[in-house]
Amino acid sequence: MPGQNDERRRAERRKKNAGPAKGPERRKADRRARGQFVQDVLELRRRARQHIEKGAVTGGYELDPTAVIAILNEALATEIVCILRYKRHYFMATGIHAQTVAAEFLQHANEEQTHADQIAERITQLGGAPNFDPEGLAMRSHSQYVEGGSLVDMIREDLVAERIAIESYSEIVRFLGDKDITTRRMMEGILAMEEEHADDLMNLLTTLDPSKAG
Ligand SMILES: [Fe+2]
Ligand SMILES: [Fe+2]
Repeated sequence: MPGQNDERRRAERRKKNAGPAKGPERRKADRRARGQFVQDVLELRRRARQHIEKGAVTGGYELDPTAVIAILNEALATEIVCILRYKRHYFMATGIHAQTVAAEFLQHANEEQTHADQIAERITQLGGAPNFDPEGLAMRSHSQYVEGGSLVDMIREDLVAERIAIESYSEIVRFLGDKDITTRRMMEGILAMEEEHADDLMNLLTTLDPSKAG
């Protein structure tokens, strides 16, 4: 009917000239936006259900989980080697400053254990299996297991290991970027603690033997 067409054209003209929608138009636009939002949520739920067997890995996961799991298993090996080295140093610390330094070694060993647990947990969330196999552990680890002779040697070796961990964890954080925020945040937290460890060791080294520091 011509009357109806005119009415529609007038409505369209009003809409064009009116700027941002007001009143009923605005409400209609809001309803459309809400409808789209509901559609998006339904789609998200559908994808989540579809991949439920993959646990925390959803369709929106932008990285190859296999690659992330492999990287995390290397970080796990690094932490385990650090625990073993700190434990050895804790039990072998002797000399006049042994008590203070041994307490520091033990604290670091316990914190590395927490890191290992966090990483192992995240590996399972990503659908992988944490590798605790002693076979090849030193090869998978980024840092080395060095026993060290004197107390100063031990601190020096631990400092080297922490610096290596800082380097490789920074690399992992950059690799994860915005593509796996949960893993990245975990690794950032661990990285911050390795930096604290390195700082503690540097201070011990400077106090015990200034000539060997740096
Ligand atoms: Fe650690
Ligand atoms: Fe550390």
